[in-house]
Amino acid sequence: AALLAGPQPLSGRKVLITAGGTVERIDPVRYITNDSSGKMGFALAEAARDFGADVTLVCARTDEKPPGGVEIVRVESALDMYEAVTGRLSAFDAIVKAAAVADYRPLSKEDKKIKKKEDKLSLELVKNPDILQAVGEWKASHPGERQPFVIGFAAETGDLEKFAMDKLRRKNSDLIVANDVSEQGAGFAVDTNVVSIYGPEGLVEHIPLSAKRTVAERIWQIAAERMTRE
Ligand code: CTP
Ligand code: CA
Repeated sequence: AALLAGPQPLSGRKVLITAGGTVERIDPVRYITNDSSGKMGFALAEAARDFGADVTLVCARTDEKPPGGVEIVRVESALDMYEAVTGRLSAFDAIVKAAAVADYRPLSKEDKKIKKKEDKLSLELVKNPDILQAVGEWKASHPGERQPFVIGFAAETGDLEKFAMDKLRRKNSDLIVANDVSEQGAGFAVDTNVVSIYGPEGLVEHIPLSAKRTVAERIWQIAAERMTRE
């Protein structure tokens, strides 16, 4: 065992991972959410823990059991998640946004259950803040401070590289992990994923169909190499 006990890739690092799908309330018994299972975020949390990191998991709706040995912060909506993440920025060496954040929320949350009335009911939605972009903006405006290494996700259908590179630049991220959700074995609910990892220079690595845990370990290895060079 002594032979295996080399330095761990993330020892001494504090990392924050967001996982799950946000829940946007319409009234006390109804809400809007998405298909995120939380599995990729949990695999990242587990892998980071096993690589020696001190892990905080900001967790929205999921049916999965979160991993042990990590600090868990439960949130419901995108606004809750925004506060949980932006309130702690300077405390982390890395931030990974694996959560599926709702782009829009109902304009008003009704205090009472909406009663059935007319034949048509329209729901007005407003845009949620972009948490990943806020982290990127914070980095750009705090050049002297400890800066978290920022990893975003992009679930796409279509031109993966174009959308991923566009998100990387727009959100000032260090890596974007992109998957084509129309591909078999990729994306939500399954235990496997197929991803392409992009950095400022373009494609860093394509990971063929693999267990989410394997994908998570590779993401952390790439991140750890880049974090030490910063
Ligand atoms: N994200 C976020 N806050 C939001 C929306 C997205 O932090 N309000 C993060 C996601 O967690 C993910 C990354 O941004 O890490 C990309 O999310 P995605 O939905 O692919 O991108 P959007 O910018 O929302 O663009 P679109 O949905 O139109 O593709
Ligand atoms: Ca989105």
